[in-house]
Amino acid sequence: MNRIAPSADPKDTTVAMRGMVKRFPGIVANDHVDFTLRRGEVHALIGENGAGKTTLMNMLAGVQRPEEGEIFVHDKSVQIRSPRDADQCGIAMVHQELMLAEALTVAENVALGLRNLKWQIHWSSIERSIEEQSRVLGFDIDPRAYVWQLSIGQRQRVELLRALMRGARILLLDEPTAVLSPHEIHQFLASLRRLTAQGMSIALVSHKLEEIVQIADRFTVLRKGRGVVSGVPTASTSQTELASWMVGQKIDKPCHDVRSPASDVEVLDVHDVHACGDKGFEALCHVSFKVFAGEILGVAGVSGNGQRELADVLSGMRPITSGRITLCGNDVTHATPARFLRAGLAYIPENRRTQGAVTSLSLAENLALKTYRQPPIAKRWGLSRKEMRSFARRLVDTFHVQAVSLQQPAGHLSGGNLQRLILARELSRPISLLLAAQPTRGLDIAATRNIHDLFMAQRKAGVATLLISEDLDELSSLCDRLIVLFRGRIVARFDRASFHRDAIGRAMAGIETSA
Ligand SMILES: Nc1ncnc2c1ncn2[C@@H]1O[C@H](COP(=O)(O)OP(=O)(O)OP(=O)(O)O)[C@@H](O)[C@H]1O
Ligand SMILES: [Mg+2]
Repeated sequence: MNRIAPSADPKDTTVAMRGMVKRFPGIVANDHVDFTLRRGEVHALIGENGAGKTTLMNMLAGVQRPEEGEIFVHDKSVQIRSPRDADQCGIAMVHQELMLAEALTVAENVALGLRNLKWQIHWSSIERSIEEQSRVLGFDIDPRAYVWQLSIGQRQRVELLRALMRGARILLLDEPTAVLSPHEIHQFLASLRRLTAQGMSIALVSHKLEEIVQIADRFTVLRKGRGVVSGVPTASTSQTELASWMVGQKIDKPCHDVRSPASDVEVLDVHDVHACGDKGFEALCHVSFKVFAGEILGVAGVSGNGQRELADVLSGMRPITSGRITLCGNDVTHATPARFLRAGLAYIPENRRTQGAVTSLSLAENLALKTYRQPPIAKRWGLSRKEMRSFARRLVDTFHVQAVSLQQPAGHLSGGNLQRLILARELSRPISLLLAAQPTRGLDIAATRNIHDLFMAQRKAGVATLLISEDLDELSSLCDRLIVLFRGRIVARFDRASFHRDAIGRAMAGIETSA
């Protein structure tokens, strides 16, 4: 990617945050953090889950208020008390959970964000500006399309367009690439370069060290709420170095290759399954595969090619139109989610906050969601809070969930810790099939490693695992076999010995089929 050198002159600082402090009950999320952003640069903000990255960006975007610290925009001290204040300083944030109105069109969403709208809206001129701006950035966005029709990658571009058309010059992007496929990431990073070439300043929160080395000009590392280093040029560092800055120690390479062969005990048999997607079209077509005890079968593919529907079908959340599903010898073709659970399914859904946990309930309650009907938590006349707490304490300790208390709402946990909580709950009872969708999305290196180790431990214990992921590194390091989904069909199958990145990539793009 060709780079145009950003301003190296510290005088070209567009934003300076000095001594930022933000506390939440029981934790200092930002402890005197400094952060600067120069004109025309991409400044990466990195750190482990819960390090305080989102909190720092939220203070700049006016979503949260600092307790101490000062913010300068173009050398002027400013008070940012609300998103409107941030807007007036030319600052816009694209949050990780995108905030578009799905039932409206792209143009309508953009119009919602515009300032000084007249009582009569000139749709054609808004649509024209969207098209123009899209062309400049190399986006392919139809202003008349409804947001629900767009892929996540396209929605992200709409969020960016919306921020730009409001006149933002300072962009805060919180893990923008976590939900994109490798191809989309490439396009996205290229468009960031175009923006900085126009003098835009970009703060980029990301766990993907590869893309940071590739795109960022400088980086700042947070660890447990404190700034470890601030504004170091990326040119002089490697991914390994970045990783050790983040965790404060060297990270060893995993050695998942020492593996015993899988058994021939069949746990899951999916036979010629067809199912429809939300829009009524066929989303899964002639899908057949088996998963054996003690093996990890990977499902690769660009998201939107049937992965979500497959996960729904295998957890009893979506009916199939034809075919047969057998789990541990039980016919579960038309079973309810509860029957899947009883047959031995553990499920780590793609969306932690809406499907994986009840964010308003406490940690202890979330951990008990699948076991509260049984003793010792279930008592004759209700639930034993005491048993619930001691059960939760044990799981929180075993799975290293970093939390202030067992009574805090699960929604307050950082992404990585929430994922650990869900895994802890799912693995807290005897299971035979582990179904995991994008289990390490948005997690830092240490948390990812931790979860991979847990998967390998389950494999060793004889659990059959179906791992749906877009991350080829993850798939090739963990899986015994791989299937590739494209437009709802299995287009290729690979054994561990035949894992070739290029061939898998081509199958994901639908270019090559071998199934
Ligand atoms: N609204 C809140 N109430 C209570 N605690 C919070 C709240 N928001 C964040 N925290 C806590 O503050 C700390 C920093 O959280 P933050 O979301 O900034 O981390 P992060 O670096 O963005 O992590 P991740 O990589 O997982 O997104 C965490 O311990 C988190 O639990
Ligand atoms: Mg965050």
